[in-house]
Amino acid sequence: MIQHATLRQLQVFEAVARNLSYTRAAEELFTTQPTVSIQLKQLTDIVGQPLLEQLGKRIFLTDTGRELLKVCHEIFDGLARFEMLVSDMKGVKAGKLRLAVITTAKYFVPRLLGLFCLRYPGIDVSLKVENRERLLQRIADNQDDLYVLGQPPEHLEIELEPFLENRMVVLAASNHPLAGKKHIPPQRLEEEPFLMREPGSGTRLATEKFFTERGLKLKVRMELGSNEAIKQAVAGGLGIAVLSAHTLALERSIDELTILDVEGFPIRRHWYLAYPKNKQLSVVAQAFLEFLHEESKLLGEKYLLGINGFPTPDRGKIKKKAPPISDTQAH
Ligand code: PGA
Repeated sequence: MIQHATLRQLQVFEAVARNLSYTRAAEELFTTQPTVSIQLKQLTDIVGQPLLEQLGKRIFLTDTGRELLKVCHEIFDGLARFEMLVSDMKGVKAGKLRLAVITTAKYFVPRLLGLFCLRYPGIDVSLKVENRERLLQRIADNQDDLYVLGQPPEHLEIELEPFLENRMVVLAASNHPLAGKKHIPPQRLEEEPFLMREPGSGTRLATEKFFTERGLKLKVRMELGSNEAIKQAVAGGLGIAVLSAHTLALERSIDELTILDVEGFPIRRHWYLAYPKNKQLSVVAQAFLEFLHEESKLLGEKYLLGINGFPTPDRGKIKKKAPPISDTQAH
């Protein structure tokens, strides 16, 4: 029976199942591949059914394996929560915060985390940046403590806490004929080649909603899978685009881009902190929630909108001087 399995065997299985690789699991657990294979074999014998199957070089989870993986997550979550509870009882906020955020949120979440980690040096943070589809899958699989996204999903039961405004602006090359024009009617944009994010992106959903609500049709010239690629293409004169103003936070090509003054813009949305309904939040996750509540207004004004040449969308033209940035921040 499964009760005879050891925690180590479950840990090994979880690592293999998550990575779908014996080698990566061994590296992650600082052990060898033969040890991983032995532990897995013992666990499979205990369960009495295959947990993994190998087709050619690829490993797949069997149905039993998939179910066991869910159980492993519940066990490890429970243990992590217990560990944090103990730290909390001892009066130290310590433990791990697993955060997964949607692509566009990578422009501001690391700053928030920086401040959070300063306040709670005992907390380790892991941050995953995923596109909307994968992020929703992570929520459904209960893989992380908290999530940041811009568009509440309809089909998932989740708790949502808005914490920061997300303004979406129309970007064009600074030598674009519409640059500097006042009160451009949105109808005028029908004539412009448009650069659009990939299907499933929250940015794209909000852009499409804005134009369909007004009965307008965009001429999409190109679909691009990242905000960075879109900014480059806009700067290169390939078209205009609607993006979150946060994507300009660390902009290098700051002189090459401008925000158009289009009526109805900026589209005002929110960033949400989300977690599955009924999820028992860890002490650390709760600390992060409280931190965001306390700090979000201040953070919105001071750290996100007003420093380092970051533009406020209403101002129109992007400020000249780009902030000094490191490569890791830029991508
Ligand atoms: P996206 O989502 O990065 O997938 O475009 C961001 C948002 O919903 O605003």
